[in-house]
Amino acid sequence: MEEYEKFSFKDMDAVRKIIAKYPQGKQRSAVMPLLWLGQQQNNNWISNAVLSHIAEVLHMNTAHVKEIAEFYSMFHSKKVGKYLVQICRTVVCALCQNQMIYKAIRDTIGIDVGETSEDELFTVVEVECLGSCINAPVIMINDSYYEHLNYDKTVEILKELQKKQQSHPSNV
Ligand code: FES
Repeated sequence: MEEYEKFSFKDMDAVRKIIAKYPQGKQRSAVMPLLWLGQQQNNNWISNAVLSHIAEVLHMNTAHVKEIAEFYSMFHSKKVGKYLVQICRTVVCALCQNQMIYKAIRDTIGIDVGETSEDELFTVVEVECLGSCINAPVIMINDSYYEHLNYDKTVEILKELQKKQQSHPSNV
């Protein structure tokens, strides 16, 4: 059974400003930026409490907000680690040795696709083309792209994030 949880936006003025960008009668179109904001303010995932709050704010049905959130891969319906590592699995990256990325991740943080590290620092998922094929192989970690990767570069990136966490542990 899902734990009872609560969510409300930290700054309702910011929410009102987002909604005000849409024409009269079309305020529900703010659902996308509000889902994005809600995710940012809820440890990088969209819980039922986030869905309900957005539905309430926009006078929408919660099921409708949920359908929208589940359609887009940028919204996470399950808890993810602080760093969401998205590996492009599409053909250009696959032809450019993206298997080295999977191995580097396994060797450095000990997890596979679909898993979250025990310290909740990393979650690894596979995605379709990240739109940067010319720079393959590519991964995306949160909002940043990492391109022209090989085994060593991937290990270096992950270790850098681990080091960052060790120097600022309260950031999880
Ligand atoms: S195939 Fe990987 S970015 Fe396009």
